[in-house]
Amino acid sequence: RYYTAQAATSLRPSVYSDDEIADVDWDNLGFGLMPTDYMYVTKSTEDGHFERGQLNRYENIQLSPSAGVLNYGQGLFEGTKAYKRDNGRLFLFRPHLNAIRIQIGAERMCMPCPSTDQFVDAVKQIALANKRWVPPPGKGSLYIRPLLFGSGPVLGLAPAPEYTFLVYASPVGNYFKEGTAPLKLIVEEDFHRASRGGAGGVKSITNYAPVLQAIRNARGRGFSDVLYLDSVNKRYIEEVSSCNIFLVKGKVISTPVAFGTILEGVTRKSIMDIATDLGYQVEERLIEADELISADEVFCTGTAVGVAPVGSITYKGKRIEYKISSELTCKQLYSRLVGIQIGLIEDKRDWIVEI
Ligand code: COI
Repeated sequence: RYYTAQAATSLRPSVYSDDEIADVDWDNLGFGLMPTDYMYVTKSTEDGHFERGQLNRYENIQLSPSAGVLNYGQGLFEGTKAYKRDNGRLFLFRPHLNAIRIQIGAERMCMPCPSTDQFVDAVKQIALANKRWVPPPGKGSLYIRPLLFGSGPVLGLAPAPEYTFLVYASPVGNYFKEGTAPLKLIVEEDFHRASRGGAGGVKSITNYAPVLQAIRNARGRGFSDVLYLDSVNKRYIEEVSSCNIFLVKGKVISTPVAFGTILEGVTRKSIMDIATDLGYQVEERLIEADELISADEVFCTGTAVGVAPVGSITYKGKRIEYKISSELTCKQLYSRLVGIQIGLIEDKRDWIVEI
């Protein structure tokens, strides 16, 4: 059965009754895929526009063996979340930023891209159509994963002749298996996530598989994730495999400056604004790995990860430990972010999109 995206709201009651809820253990959500009811799909036309999208049942898709994404990795992904409030209404957090980021990425990867309106509409529709999979307030969120990829056939290295924009969703809780426990990071000196002039600054699918080996090595040694250094000087910290990083020293909060090798996260940007509001001096700059030793606090941010305190970082074989307490700056910043999201703190910047 096929439905237009615009019809999703009216379609809802006929798909499931309001009291029908997904049979999920909401208290033990991790970050594994839990297939939901619908996905949104649209394809590009010859002039690079995207047709009106459809809500299809979540199912496998068909691809040509010579699809651009399979052969040359021509693809981008996004991540955003829908939350449920106590009144049952759903809301999104700054989905326009994801729309803009995928447009920048599409330019870099030579792909046409849906407009901001179409992107945000697709995200709204997928949240509404999968409403029963949105965890109850405080238990997690519906992680929404937009994909844009070359689905048309190519053989020689060239942009694909056709593109697919697809959005699916899964309920999620904590990203790391450690739950909310402080992260144990290791600084990676041999692998790099991105290089100058590469695609590290956009959410290209090609940035992620190459770090799997570093993650596997780190997890095998009991670490949560890997902190990468810049590939030119091997001296400045850049980002963790799945999130951005911040250092706190007194009233100064620093995060690596984005010179095209760092993904500019939506949570990163929001935390920088919140920290400024709370009177911190916020710096985006080159941060030497040696500065990790003198930081009062280190934390990570990301859509999937949220705001996660770092308990230790191992660098050049030495373990740097950070004090963890309820007074942590990152906890203060995170509770302000959550306060804005759940409506306890005024949303002065229009970050929340109620649907
Ligand atoms: C996100 O935070 O949304 C991401 O895309 C990171 C991903 C590795 C789960």
